[in-house]
Amino acid sequence: MADVADAPLYLGVDVSTTGVKALLVDASGQVVASASHAHPSSAPQPLWSEQNPEDWLRGAVIAIREALATAGAAGEHVAAVGLTGQMHGMVALDNAGAVVRPAILWNDQRTAAECDEIRERVGRARLIAISGNDALTGFTAPKILWTRRHEPYNYARIRHILLPKDYLRLWLTAEYAMDKADGSGTLLFDLARRDWSPELLAALEIPAEWLPPTYEGPQVTGAISLAAAEATGLRAGTPVVAGGGDQAAQAVGVGVVAPGALALTLGTSGVLFGATDTPIIEPDGRLHAFCHAAPGRWHLMGVMLSAAGSFQWLRDTLAPGASFDALVAEAATAPAGSDGLLFLPYLTGERTPYPDPLARGAWVGLTARHTRAHLIRATLEGVAFGLRDMLALMRASGMALPDHARISGGGARSALWREIVASALRIELATPETTEGAAYGAALLAGVGAGAWPDVEAATSALRMQPGGSPDASDARRYDALYEQYRALYPALAPSMHALSAFSQRENA
Ligand code: XUL
Repeated sequence: MADVADAPLYLGVDVSTTGVKALLVDASGQVVASASHAHPSSAPQPLWSEQNPEDWLRGAVIAIREALATAGAAGEHVAAVGLTGQMHGMVALDNAGAVVRPAILWNDQRTAAECDEIRERVGRARLIAISGNDALTGFTAPKILWTRRHEPYNYARIRHILLPKDYLRLWLTAEYAMDKADGSGTLLFDLARRDWSPELLAALEIPAEWLPPTYEGPQVTGAISLAAAEATGLRAGTPVVAGGGDQAAQAVGVGVVAPGALALTLGTSGVLFGATDTPIIEPDGRLHAFCHAAPGRWHLMGVMLSAAGSFQWLRDTLAPGASFDALVAEAATAPAGSDGLLFLPYLTGERTPYPDPLARGAWVGLTARHTRAHLIRATLEGVAFGLRDMLALMRASGMALPDHARISGGGARSALWREIVASALRIELATPETTEGAAYGAALLAGVGAGAWPDVEAATSALRMQPGGSPDASDARRYDALYEQYRALYPALAPSMHALSAFSQRENA
């Protein structure tokens, strides 16, 4: 059998919210094979979102085996493994490393009271100064406090806290370890020092020994154990690198590593990710400030909750069964600016720039002249304005931004939507040829760890990009004018949104 030196492969494994993906790349950065296995989520109570960590392990075994089989590769070919996954989820383990309760995920909303408690204990300004972030229900620290308050019997058993991909790491390597990008998403990190904050841990009375050592993305954290080798088909002793939280790994996968580089993702949620070489903080905590998966780099990030999710909702409610392509073609028949119709994309609440779970969506400015084409176009434009909100916050935070960005995600397949985004943000867009997401970035980090590339930037230099859209001067002028109106709408409508949310809560009680 050929050995690893003949044709080394690098394996990225992504423990995402919907499933585990395993992806193999070769030493030139080409994708050789990939495989996924879905896992379920549960919502045992309103606002809750949980998964069983054991499901991730089962999924990883299946996906890794299938990726190896598709590539016609043996475990011996894999020179290193990199891990990535959904950020912020709390995996609580006992002394023996056994799961104490189901993992509480990033999209769980139960911890509003604990976020208040954190701000009270630490002081909001101090919290933002140390961690780079305000307390958000999705982050890990409030979930730990929630468990302490509501499940003291479970809390008493906790000896280790990990994030989802690091639970897979524990099983693969028998090591407790975490990367710095994911660590900084717990709200327990000192952003500038790139490690746990003794001050935050003390203020929240969380034992420091519950948290694992943290590593830079390409650093080796352990090696595949004999048991994991037997289960997955990988070679025992294969190094496993730290990798990164899914947003940081996704940015590596599209080559957004150099300071000032921007990545834009039009997935169910919409993400604007800006790489920096210093820890820049939005003073009011409206953007996330996390470590990057590249050593010595940080990033600012805005997350809007319903980007392509808004388009999907529109299709499902107004045009069930229609193809997205047909709806985009229909939208193209309406003029830029949708004849003065605006859409607010807060269909599942919002995160950036308004951390408001009760925010609601709206079309504002409807007239009898508007057609379904206008409704669709206004929806695509409303999402673009939400992205512009994030870009404006990045500029105001002092980040030097380029005039171009790399765009990916399902929504980025639409040329019209890309053109709308390019004009609304006045930014040149490029699309990467490889759109394999976070697993691809994790595989590149594994390659860097194994010495295939000298550093993370070099690993991404072979990425091929295609033109993705340019601002149109007259559309951009229209969007400038409409954006002023868009910006005024949330502050004006928030009281009504909250009252309507209270109304429907009463009705559904
Ligand atoms: C990032 C975030 C999500 C999750 C799930 O802050 O909450 O991207 O990582 O993918």
